[in-house]
Amino acid sequence: MVRMSERLERIASYIAAGETVADIGSDHGLLPIHLWESGKSPRVIISDIGEGPLLRAKINTKARFPNANFDLRRGNGLESVGRSEVDAVVIAGVGGRLIIDILSADADKTKSFFKYVFQPRNAADKLRKWLISEGFFIYGEALAREGRHICEITAVLTGGHNSGGETGRAPAIGDGREGEYYRKEMRYEISPLLFEREDPLLAEWIGGKIKKELMIAEDIEKLGKAERSRKAGERAEIRLETLRRLRESISARAGNL
Ligand SMILES: C[S@@+](CC[C@H](N)C(=O)[O-])C[C@H]1O[C@@H](n2cnc3c(N)ncnc32)[C@H](O)[C@@H]1O
Repeated sequence: MVRMSERLERIASYIAAGETVADIGSDHGLLPIHLWESGKSPRVIISDIGEGPLLRAKINTKARFPNANFDLRRGNGLESVGRSEVDAVVIAGVGGRLIIDILSADADKTKSFFKYVFQPRNAADKLRKWLISEGFFIYGEALAREGRHICEITAVLTGGHNSGGETGRAPAIGDGREGEYYRKEMRYEISPLLFEREDPLLAEWIGGKIKKELMIAEDIEKLGKAERSRKAGERAEIRLETLRRLRESISARAGNL
């Protein structure tokens, strides 16, 4: 069996047995090869915009299954697949803004697939906000370790819901200043689903955000009084407090078990 990273395993876990899949921006092709080899997906499409990545995928398929005919396609975003041609589309390892561009190119085609699994390299909050505003329904959120990084994975359904939304209750940090800030400003960045699912990497991931925020607060503090922006200082402070409360809510929950 193809050796898969924790990140690719997590992405694969959102594909149900029997679902056909297009992997857009597939590069090495390991995810679709694995989905097909494991018998989970009866049909997979390996698609990429670049010739080099497609060649890499071809080498990987031929090395493992010389007699199998993998469906390799070159194209920009969803251009390489037909409307409703597969059940699920995976777009992983690219920026969140590029994912939004790919989904926006042809809204009808985009909504013709049943399910998407995304793993944005950045701007995941912008992607979630956009998805919900465009009527997608976020039903899955997971974190996966890859080297020194923790990656975000978001699974969405396109149909059967009149309006966009997400499942998952907001974490219990109360109705005070931090609770309100989380609901208004941070829920797209740290999905409520991660708390509900008690994702094992959540506390560590929030810890990383706290460290970053402390560095930002220190940098702001170092600026001279004249340059220091009151707004930036206030933002760093409320973000830090909210992140701390969120992390505490995870420990409290663990303590209550
Ligand atoms: C970092 S690789 C990710 C590979 C694999 N999906 C993964 O997660 O391990 C990103 C791939 O996306 C491809 N790509 C970038 N923009 C694209 C687009 N608009 N349409 C299709 N593929 C694209 C690149 O050529 C590259 O092979």
